[in-house]
Amino acid sequence: MRAAAVSFQRLEVQSFGGPDVIQWVQDETLPEPGAGEVRIRVEASSLVFTDMLIRRNLYPVLKLTLPLTLGYDFVGRIDRIGAGVTRWRVGDRVADLIQLGGNATHLVRPAASLVAVPQGLEATQVEPLILSYMTAYQALFREGGAKAGDAVLICGASGAVGLAALDLCRAFGVRAVGVASAKREQAVTRMGAAFVAYDQIGSSLRLDRWSRELGGFAVVLDAARGEALSSLMARLAPAGRLVVAGFTAALRAGQGAGKWRGLMAKLGLGFDFVRIKSMSSMPFLSQRVVFYDVSGQRAEHPAHFQDDLTMLLSLLEAGRIAPHVQRVFGLDEAVEAHRLIETGQVEGRIVLDLTRPAAHHPERRRRPGVPEHAALETQAAG
Ligand SMILES: NC(=O)c1ccc[n+]([C@@H]2O[C@H](COP(=O)([O-])OP(=O)(O)OC[C@H]3O[C@@H](n4cnc5c(N)ncnc54)[C@H](OP(=O)(O)O)[C@@H]3O)[C@@H](O)[C@H]2O)c1
Repeated sequence: MRAAAVSFQRLEVQSFGGPDVIQWVQDETLPEPGAGEVRIRVEASSLVFTDMLIRRNLYPVLKLTLPLTLGYDFVGRIDRIGAGVTRWRVGDRVADLIQLGGNATHLVRPAASLVAVPQGLEATQVEPLILSYMTAYQALFREGGAKAGDAVLICGASGAVGLAALDLCRAFGVRAVGVASAKREQAVTRMGAAFVAYDQIGSSLRLDRWSRELGGFAVVLDAARGEALSSLMARLAPAGRLVVAGFTAALRAGQGAGKWRGLMAKLGLGFDFVRIKSMSSMPFLSQRVVFYDVSGQRAEHPAHFQDDLTMLLSLLEAGRIAPHVQRVFGLDEAVEAHRLIETGQVEGRIVLDLTRPAAHHPERRRRPGVPEHAALETQAAG
């Protein structure tokens, strides 16, 4: 059956740099699934700090080559099935974590890696679960071992991972103290957490007091790296865990600075990363320090990823969690969206909506070597 012509649009980076390097491009041919693969019509994808790191080639564990398509994750509907795939049908809704390629109207994935998504859920509510909530959940509960009734400290509490962590603490009966800038107090306390501002005098003393009153934190989730490791460890309970997931504070310090300060920030970050990794293998500590890496965990424990995303989707369906989405952007607004991320103006999440019609057209080009008549045909859904 023939369906209406569609185009393949995406956010491409052809040289590393600031938000202006993002190109909104269109091909006249859709990617085709091979054996064991499916093609997905994407509904929503990531716009997060990690995409910004990839755009600037600062992402530590990925060897990047240009051009690349941004987008760490996606949710969408299968619109074409490759040979040998029996598990999925056209029209099924799926999600995945992919590091690159999600900021596109279409993409091709191995059928085996996808997670089923319930039909009724809003795509812009599902998307934050795949990277941000997954990171918060696995860092707090799988790595940190947090349990109902525990007290935890969340550094970077107003960001994508931080607000997800607070939402999950509320859902699982974990007491939380959140650290963010003073202007984000309401975002943190709305989630039922206690709040400490990192940019106000006396914040360190206030955290020490919380820690004493609570007998030390069972888990410290650090998505910011704004404080010395020794200070964070001093706030742990005797068998507590410090789980480091991100370096926002260090990276913000290097941004917009001169070339040398930027380089020093990058070197300092690398040193910090190596130190955390080496501390994680110190067997004589009753407290533990670990670096959490969502893609590494997914590669090592694919079943955990499947189970955890399915569990997060059921929490969303039951109304037990509610991602804080500040704004939804279209493909034509991506540069503005990345500027907001880069200047620390996002509270919780922003999301890319790949179904929204744009006011104008992207740069157009045809893939070399592909005849025009091969383009623009999709299988009808259902
Ligand atoms: N390891 C992994 O697998 C993994 C997965 C996802 C994300 N990440 C990383 O984790 C980090 C956080 O990600 P995200 O998406 O949540 O970023 P985000 O949305 O930009 O949030 C960053 C948070 O850090 C806070 N912050 C900045 N400077 C701080 C400081 N000096 N002290 C305490 N908090 C500070 C910000 O607070 P204000 O805005 O109020 O200043 C905000 O709450 C990023 O580095 C990201 O790349 C890692």
